[in-house]
Amino acid sequence: MEDSSTRTVVITGGSRGIGRCIALKFSDEKANIVLVHYDPDESAAQETLDLLDGKGIQAESHKVDVSSFSHVDKLFAQIVDSYGKVDVLVNNAGITRDTLLMRMEEKDWDAVVNVNLKSVFNCTHAVIRPMIKRRSGWIVNISSVVGQIGNIGQANYSASKAGIMGFTKTVAREVASRGIRVNAVAPGFIETDMTASLPEKVREKFLEQIPLGRMGKPEEVAEVVYWLCSEGSSYLTGQVIHVNGGLYM
Ligand SMILES: NC(=O)c1ccc[n+]([C@@H]2O[C@H](COP(=O)([O-])OP(=O)(O)OC[C@H]3O[C@@H](n4cnc5c(N)ncnc54)[C@H](O)[C@@H]3O)[C@@H](O)[C@H]2O)c1
Repeated sequence: MEDSSTRTVVITGGSRGIGRCIALKFSDEKANIVLVHYDPDESAAQETLDLLDGKGIQAESHKVDVSSFSHVDKLFAQIVDSYGKVDVLVNNAGITRDTLLMRMEEKDWDAVVNVNLKSVFNCTHAVIRPMIKRRSGWIVNISSVVGQIGNIGQANYSASKAGIMGFTKTVAREVASRGIRVNAVAPGFIETDMTASLPEKVREKFLEQIPLGRMGKPEEVAEVVYWLCSEGSSYLTGQVIHVNGGLYM
């Protein structure tokens, strides 16, 4: 029989990249893991499920667009029904639609703000009442260094990531007395699909600005996310932890 102390962890954008590494990190504690993704096919999600299976975890994956309030609500009702609770929510799903502001179309703005920021509202809203009732919970929102310092061609993305920082601080204040901690992690330049398509020149320019002289690994972000959901960070809430090799300090 399952121990009631087994945590149920929901990770949006959990099929690949940073989300996959976060899932693998939580597998160390034998958590119940639920991945949410919106990839065109199931191959990356299946690969993550296989990796988790290799670590003895029967995780599940759902293809749901986290920018849809009603779909998210339905999904979380289903998860609470299956597992009885959500202990940890990692709002990690994100996209880019980069272009200079003068060329940016309304659809580029809407897509990025809806997937990156509205989704954080949708998922947090869906878990907060049950977490308040249980007087326990951990929420980690994945922001970006760009939400702090801006970046040419990313007005939509940086606004969405800055929005996450404000959202994190407000919700942290609202639920701190209920035993729920809400923090954000702002990665710098991390090796994933999201950065793989960047032109070599842009990559080199970024690298020049990073004191540690290299891109980050998704595992290095996952470590910090996991720590924020552990006893080791028990006196932290409403914080934005920068994981960026010194790019912003
Ligand atoms: N890679 C970086 O350098 C970097 C830097 C700073 C912040 N981030 C942030 O970290 C997070 C993860 O980035 P990554 O590099 O691993 O990205 P990735 O492109 O490798 O993976 C993105 C994940 O988000 C999911 N997703 C996209 N749209 C979705 C939707 N509408 N509904 C549900 N899921 C959706 C995808 O299915 C996938 O699982 C993102 O929020 C990103 O903005 C990444």
